Amino acid sequence: MPAAKDVVRIAALGDLHYGRTATPGLLQPLFGQISESADILVLCGDLTDYGLADEARALMREMAAVKIPTVAVLGNHDYESSQQDEIRQILVDSGIVPLDGETTEILGIGFAGVKGFAGGFGRGALGPWGEDIMKKFVHEAVNEALKLESALARLRNDHRIAILHYSPIQGTVEGEPLEIYPFLGCSRLEEPLGRYPVTAVFHGHAHHGQPEGRTTKNVPVYNVSMSLMRVVFPDRPFRLLEVDVTAVDDRRAGADRRADESHRQEPQIQTAKTGHR
Ligand SMILES: [Fe+2]
Ligand SMILES: [Fe+2]
Repeated sequence: MPAAKDVVRIAALGDLHYGRTATPGLLQPLFGQISESADILVLCGDLTDYGLADEARALMREMAAVKIPTVAVLGNHDYESSQQDEIRQILVDSGIVPLDGETTEILGIGFAGVKGFAGGFGRGALGPWGEDIMKKFVHEAVNEALKLESALARLRNDHRIAILHYSPIQGTVEGEPLEIYPFLGCSRLEEPLGRYPVTAVFHGHAHHGQPEGRTTKNVPVYNVSMSLMRVVFPDRPFRLLEVDVTAVDDRRAGADRRADESHRQEPQIQTAKTGHR
């Protein structure tokens, strides 16, 4: 479907942590500001604080005035009470598109979303070695990366946006205590972002990280955790990204070619024993 606008404005925000003790109406001015500023809203998980369906219902009441298309991933907090399926349905019933390995297209832009998982970055990434529980931990991150990869592969839009809760790069968690880096994201999530042309990546979870970083393939990564946004943009506490949908992303042709070649030649996600054992 052709885009109706030349420039599409995407507002992105994560880690609302909307809890039962939240004051009703507290977030309504923020959502009003988002609706006036953007064409699409992206929510990057930890929508609720304890993962309760009641919290999600209360958040939907806060968001009642949001009339722009909204796409979301869940975060680890949304899983805390094992009510994630109900939370997902509450989002759907409110017209929000939750993504867990799925894709959607809005105003000509393709979105792929997963929660992601932990495991650490680069040479420090945990490897699938030793006890079964360690292998299961690593495989959770690998599975999330595979879901992201297959979602990105299905998109055929000139502009593709990846939405995660956990960070795919270390750059946007810096500022957090070094000891918790491995629980804030995993560089296995970065691999698909280099294999397909991606215009931008949004994530949350690192409440005190950096607002912006780059993948090794130079894709911009935005940490849109609400507490961070309130510090970086006190007058407008969310990321606002303008995408010129009339311009074809320069990375697309080359990256599409690399993706085709890579699918022919190598496994999609490396699970070699690297990093800490
Ligand atoms: Fe959070
Ligand atoms: Fe989180």
